[in-house]
Amino acid sequence: MRVLTWLVVGWLACVPFHDAGAQAGPTPQNAGAQAGPASAPAAFAADYSRYAVAADEPRASAIGAAVLQRGGSAADAAVATVLALGVTNPAASGLGGGGFALYYDAKTEQLTFIDFRERAGAAATTDMFEQAKARGIEDASRVGGLATGVPGEPAGLEALLNKFGRLPREAVTEPAALLAEQGAAMSPYLSEIAQRFEAELLKDDDARAWLTDGSHVLAPGAIAKNLPLARAIRAFGQAGAQPFYLGPIARQIVHAVQQHKGHLSRQDLADYRVVERAPLCRELLGRRICTAPPPSAGGYTLIASLAMLERWLSPPTRANEAELIHALTESFKGPFMDRQRYFGDPDYATLPIDALLAPERLSARAALYHRTLTGDVNAYALPLPELTPETVQPEGGGTSHLCVVDAEGNVAAVTTTVNLPFGARYSAHGILLNDQMDDFARAVGERNAFGLIGGVNNLPGPGHRPVSTMTPTIVFGRDGKPELCIGGSGGSRIVTAVAQAAYRVLALDQAPAAVMAMPRIHHQADPDRLEIEAGLDASVLTQVRARGHDIKDTQWTAKVQMIQIRRTPEATTLRAASDPRKGGAPAGL
Ligand code: DON
Repeated sequence: MRVLTWLVVGWLACVPFHDAGAQAGPTPQNAGAQAGPASAPAAFAADYSRYAVAADEPRASAIGAAVLQRGGSAADAAVATVLALGVTNPAASGLGGGGFALYYDAKTEQLTFIDFRERAGAAATTDMFEQAKARGIEDASRVGGLATGVPGEPAGLEALLNKFGRLPREAVTEPAALLAEQGAAMSPYLSEIAQRFEAELLKDDDARAWLTDGSHVLAPGAIAKNLPLARAIRAFGQAGAQPFYLGPIARQIVHAVQQHKGHLSRQDLADYRVVERAPLCRELLGRRICTAPPPSAGGYTLIASLAMLERWLSPPTRANEAELIHALTESFKGPFMDRQRYFGDPDYATLPIDALLAPERLSARAALYHRTLTGDVNAYALPLPELTPETVQPEGGGTSHLCVVDAEGNVAAVTTTVNLPFGARYSAHGILLNDQMDDFARAVGERNAFGLIGGVNNLPGPGHRPVSTMTPTIVFGRDGKPELCIGGSGGSRIVTAVAQAAYRVLALDQAPAAVMAMPRIHHQADPDRLEIEAGLDASVLTQVRARGHDIKDTQWTAKVQMIQIRRTPEATTLRAASDPRKGGAPAGL
């Protein structure tokens, strides 16, 4: 009953400017595992023994699993799944967006992080959004041409396939191309969120032809076809990323951006490159946790939060639910203050990650914790002594995540985004273009759509990548082998949801399906308040309130996908779960 309630809440609770949101022999962790049309919810969690895909949309998971069945690697399956997500839920991701991929190659035991985040064009300036505001355009970072960064998704998917793909590229791309060509049934989730943006979708030729009947958004179950997108996916299958950066699709993207008063040029697209970066890894909770480095602040926040929980809740089972919520809340305050102050594109700003994570600083922060009283966010800030106050800000759903584990033990954690639902709400060649520029600080001290405040390091600049919260993560167990793949969507809530879900699985040994069903909390330092999802036990809520937190009820939280890998001498079990709040379901064997 509770799961059903959440499926409905998940579909209905997508608010504007926030994450709106074939079984092959699984053992369901919850009742009702079924392949089937988008309108019949499949099981949100299931166990597999060979391979698994956990995406936030059931058909995308099924397409990934089918690629694994044909002998594809985790990279092949991740790319097929990402492309399918761009067809089945274009509110959240697509070829016009970007993201991060963390990949574990079981044979070499190497971990690779591919940053395919969007970049600002050469004409970007620190005050471009202030200038737009002065011209009377309030939402220039969110809607229209100025909101769009150079898409990174085609280059990112190509890099993933070139490094780790095994199947011919067209075998990976064809399922999504067919889905776009023949049409995919609108999910209740997509239909609901599209209705919220109906007026804007009707104004865009591609979106109108794809997601509406010409005057209204398609109802759940209606078939949505996108022939230009099918051709774009096939172009990727044939020629890789080239057409999107140098060829005919690049020309159409630049034309669309400029028609919508943006500045991107052909040269900006030609100059786009993915960046391979060292993943951010730390030893915590008896494991090695590897996650997204800057320009994500999510990975840093995850590590800094878990480092506090490790110190405050020892042994982990000592804490009751109220203390866990309290400790999680307190653990988020410091890292979010650090993010405001320091984070930017690491290619253009020096980010003192090692100093921020220095054991003495973590201990100093840990010493501020009071078990029964909420702490002051400013006390948790602990600015580094050597940085000048001038770099400090005044005190003061368009994403998908998926996990793949293949039969050889390769693991892909990929988070992909167009930022806000349907990105900047216009398209080129059937592809909705991102509004990732809103993840920059439009001005120092101003909030983005997720209420996040950016500092000077995160002002827009030519070629810069905006700071992200995306947190694709792979955790290695005591035996050095992957134990958990996890990540999420939901703006600033991504990392707080990932931290609490990962902590529950790793430290408290709670099952992924059970963790999905627990109400989540969120605190991002500023605003200084604790958001709690509906459903928390009343006595726990009373105990949390007694600690002095300013509590706000919320129906909106991030959506998490994960696969836990449990090994015994006899068997491996892949416990896959897709967040029921978004109607996703895993697939596998
Ligand atoms: O990179 C980021 O942090 C944001 N652009 C993510 C946006 C997001 O998760 C939207 N909702 N699902």
